[in-house]
Amino acid sequence: MKILRIIEKKKIHQAAELLLNSKEAIALTGAGVSTESGIPDFRGEDGIWKKFPIETFGTLESLLKNPAKFWEMAQKIAPNLFKAKPNPGHCALAELEKMDLIKAVITQNIDELHQKAGSIIVYEVHGSINRFNCLGCKASYTKEQVYRKLKKEKKTGPQCEFCATPLKPSVVLFGEGLPRFEIFQSQALAKKADVMLIVGSSLSVAPICDLPLYTLREKGKLIIVNDQPTHLDEKAEVVINHKSGTILPLIVEEIKKLKSEQEPIV
Ligand code: APR
Repeated sequence: MKILRIIEKKKIHQAAELLLNSKEAIALTGAGVSTESGIPDFRGEDGIWKKFPIETFGTLESLLKNPAKFWEMAQKIAPNLFKAKPNPGHCALAELEKMDLIKAVITQNIDELHQKAGSIIVYEVHGSINRFNCLGCKASYTKEQVYRKLKKEKKTGPQCEFCATPLKPSVVLFGEGLPRFEIFQSQALAKKADVMLIVGSSLSVAPICDLPLYTLREKGKLIIVNDQPTHLDEKAEVVINHKSGTILPLIVEEIKKLKSEQEPIV
């Protein structure tokens, strides 16, 4: 245990040095960064897809086939999402942006916890839970409007007032395209990045799992903070298999220490 701690301290130091010496570092986050805020991830032990199989609940096809079933799942997941607060991992990433050490956060999460923690440049590549649209005429709906509809339209799931097509949260389901602007920006940032800090993602869902490859191809370096190994571990400069809510604040602390050592004594 003691040896493990020493190894981790060394890795935290390496990660801090990489970030401090970077010019175009970015962060890529997944569901793991929010588990310490009480939101389950997708493929971990209590992952969402274990309770609600993707084929039945997570595809556009399944929503169109049985909207009421999709909304049943959404209502079970939503309370946790809406009441969640950022954890120290989110706050550390916001602090890294304030220190101008990361240029943006690319997130697969739909919970808006990065923004709530103070991150400003956030690309939500899988959408957001706080917006809702009609699948037909694209009319947009607020959370409050959808809540009201859910109570009245239990049998069908909420439908559009104008064309009676099912409504959907603006999150990307399997079988749907990703938001074009966000993907374009993410790919451009990943190519430009000299360091990519990857946090809490199994890196198993395309096209986002390819972003680290863009960085590696341009000779950028990867730092991975994930409590389980990922398939890109061997390509990363630093891998820390631990909770992000513990490790990210330690990296920020280490950066501050290194910065204070670099400051000239007058
Ligand atoms: N700290 C670090 N890592 C964690 C923590 C934590 N506190 N909690 C969980 N993890 C790790 C898990 O071990 C897992 O490897 O985070 C990873 C989360 O992986 P996934 O559940 O696959 O989530 P993600 O990579 O974001 O999934 C991508 O899949 O179904 C879709 O649209 C969904 O955006 C999601 C996408």
